[in-house]
Amino acid sequence: MDALVEVTGLTKRYGDTLAVDGVDLTVLPGEVYGFLGPNGAGKTTTLRILTGLIAPTSGEVRVLGGMPGQSGVLGRTGSMIESPAFYPYLSGLDNLRLLAEYAAVPRRKIDEVLDLVDLTDRARDRFSTYSLGMKQRLGVAAALLKDPELVILDEPTNGLDPAGMRDMRRLIRELGSGGRTVLLSSHLLGEVQQICDRVGIIAAGRMVAEHNVEDLRAEQELVVRATPRDRAQSVLAGFGAVHRYDDTLRVQVDPRRAAEVNRVLVEAGIEVSELRSTERALEDVFFELTTEEKADVG
Ligand SMILES: Nc1ncnc2c1ncn2[C@@H]1O[C@H](COP(=O)(O)OP(=O)(O)OP(=O)(O)O)[C@@H](O)[C@H]1O
Ligand SMILES: [Mg+2]
Repeated sequence: MDALVEVTGLTKRYGDTLAVDGVDLTVLPGEVYGFLGPNGAGKTTTLRILTGLIAPTSGEVRVLGGMPGQSGVLGRTGSMIESPAFYPYLSGLDNLRLLAEYAAVPRRKIDEVLDLVDLTDRARDRFSTYSLGMKQRLGVAAALLKDPELVILDEPTNGLDPAGMRDMRRLIRELGSGGRTVLLSSHLLGEVQQICDRVGIIAAGRMVAEHNVEDLRAEQELVVRATPRDRAQSVLAGFGAVHRYDDTLRVQVDPRRAAEVNRVLVEAGIEVSELRSTERALEDVFFELTTEEKADVG
C-alpha cells in the first residue's frame, strides 16, 4: 500500500529556531496516526506544512501522492489546524454553507456532516453562542465537507472538558473506522493510546520514535527493588536499558528471564526485595525517549 503522507528529512527554521528538525513521517491508508509531543515540539508547524499553509525550509513532502497545497491534493484533504476561523455572527449552518459554496460541495453534504458531529440541533444558532466543544465540532464538520480521504486535525480535543473530549475522541474513532485516514496531533498520551493505531513521538522538532500503539502497550519490562541500588543498577545494565523509577529500577528485558536476573543479582551480593514484570505505560516510554533526546542535545 502506498503511503498517504510521506515526509523525509523535513526541516522548518524560523530565524534561530529550528521548529522542525529532520522529521521522517509516514501515514498509511486507513490508519489513525497520532502525532504526539509536548508544547513547542513542532506538531503544528509540521501539520501546517502538510496542508500547504507554509513552506518547509528543506525536506521531501508527499501528500496523497502530490505536493501539499496542490489543488488536487487540497480537494482530497480536510483539515483543522489550531482554532478554526468562522464568522461569529453567522450560524454554524451558514458558515458551512459559505465553505460549501466556495469548495463547490453539494448542499446535502452539509446536513450529513452536521449530523456526524452532532450539531444538527444547534446548526441555526450563531457561531458566537457556541461552546468551545461545539466550535471544535463545527471545525471538524468543515474539515469533512469535501468528503476527504485524509483528515488532518491539530489537537482536536484541546481546551475541551472531559465530556467534550470523550465526544471528540468517539467522533475521531468513527471517522477512522471507515476508509478514511486520520492524522491528528496531541500532547496527551492516554488520548493517542485510545484513538490511534500508530504514533509518532516528536520532541524539540525531532521524531524520537514511531510505533504501533499496540506494540507500545505490549512492551514489558522488569521492575526490581534491590539494595544497594547503584550496584544493582550496574549489574542490571548487563540485561538491558535500566531506568530509575521512584525507588525501583526498571529493566528492559524479557520478563521470562526474571529467574536469571534474580540469580545474577543475588550472586553479586545484592539483596532483592521485589522482582516483577510490568507493562510500560506510554507515559514512561515517552518520558524516557524525550529525556534521552534532551540529554543528547544538552
Ligand atoms: N511563525 C513562527 N515564527 C517563529 N517561530 C515559530 C513560528 N511558529 C512556530 N514557531 C516555533 O517553532 C517551535 C514549534 O512550534 P509548534 O507550534 O509547531 O509546536 P507545537 O508542537 O504545535 O506546540 P503546541 O503543543 O504548544 O501547540 C516553537 O519553538 C515555536 O515557538
Ligand atoms: Mg500546536
